[in-house]
Amino acid sequence: MKAFIVDRYKSKSALRLGDMPEPEVRDHDVLVAIHAASLNQLDAKIRDGEFKLILPYRLPLILGNDVAGVVVRVGSKVQRFKPGDEVYARPRQDRIGTLAEFIAMNEADVALKPTNLTMEEAASIPLVGLTAWQVLIERAQLKRGQKVLIHAGSGGFGSFAIQLAKHIGATVAATTSTANVDLVKSLGADVVIDYKKEDFSQVLNGYDVVVNSLDKSTLEKSLKVLKPSGKLISISGPPDAAFAKESGLNGFLQQVMRLLSFGIRKQARRHGVSYSFVFMRANGEQLSGITSLVEAGAIRPVVDRIFSFQATNEAMEYLATGRAKGKIVIKVR
Ligand SMILES: NC(=O)c1ccc[n+]([C@@H]2O[C@H](COP(=O)([O-])OP(=O)(O)OC[C@H]3O[C@@H](n4cnc5c(N)ncnc54)[C@H](OP(=O)(O)O)[C@@H]3O)[C@@H](O)[C@H]2O)c1
Repeated sequence: MKAFIVDRYKSKSALRLGDMPEPEVRDHDVLVAIHAASLNQLDAKIRDGEFKLILPYRLPLILGNDVAGVVVRVGSKVQRFKPGDEVYARPRQDRIGTLAEFIAMNEADVALKPTNLTMEEAASIPLVGLTAWQVLIERAQLKRGQKVLIHAGSGGFGSFAIQLAKHIGATVAATTSTANVDLVKSLGADVVIDYKKEDFSQVLNGYDVVVNSLDKSTLEKSLKVLKPSGKLISISGPPDAAFAKESGLNGFLQQVMRLLSFGIRKQARRHGVSYSFVFMRANGEQLSGITSLVEAGAIRPVVDRIFSFQATNEAMEYLATGRAKGKIVIKVR
């Protein structure tokens, strides 16, 4: 089958379009004919080798973390899916590879695709949707009436997280540039901070939760926005020892991550707030919950551009600009 492949880790290198064997279908797997995939900053980081220590892939590797498609075959122990089902997923991290014609995934990672979405729209959701769910619902335990600041509200993650936080009943503030203020408002943000004109840390205070997906200076300034006992949660680092432990990383890496997050944890303690890092995981059950929210009209996908499969490297270049409004999608079939 045709696939976009990483042969060796190299910053900003093009992916190779080549032939790979069709995936082996294990007992608990569904084999999916891929109709659409979407790109994430994680794809660029994996290609560049930034995740070598945490995710030791065997090369050559098929890249891609989000998929929508049709089940064509199921393993002998599969219970929830049958050939013909339209599904979507973020496959577990050791079995990625959605920039291809087919993928085999454990059924536990898969959910039925929202019936009101196209394949391209559905493929835009799993990774960012699950991240928002795991940050806002699991980690922050965000409640109706609480206040949350979501940075980069117009990005892939932010555009989903704003809508989920509003659905929970929170008051939502988001940062974005002038060009995207209207988009972010249309997603439901109550307070929009245009970072070209205002410094969010001078304007906002008394927040229960801040979700950081930007750089170190944004992370540190976010401390000022939180009320005592508030929660600073970052998805863009630095990782902490709890994450290393959960991920089964060895004692040395746990120590490295404790050191990487030492500064921000110390500052957080001084402010009387908590700091933690979230790295999303595949979860078909949570994704089914997201399907219900999308079908109920509580959340809509935000797709910036759709590229053809052949144009995947151009799509990767667009991803690298960091300016996407919502998600970048690849139409595979
Ligand atoms: N830990 C995890 O599990 C996890 C999961 C998902 C994502 N992430 C990470 O989270 C980060 C964001 O991911 P993403 O998919 O949302 O990326 P993305 O879609 O590429 O983000 C692009 C958006 O960022 C906005 N932006 C850039 N600089 C900004 C600033 N200073 N203030 C406010 N907005 C700004 C841009 O808006 P403007 O053009 O208006 O500036 C653009 O709309 C990445 O580092 C990604 O790797 C981590």
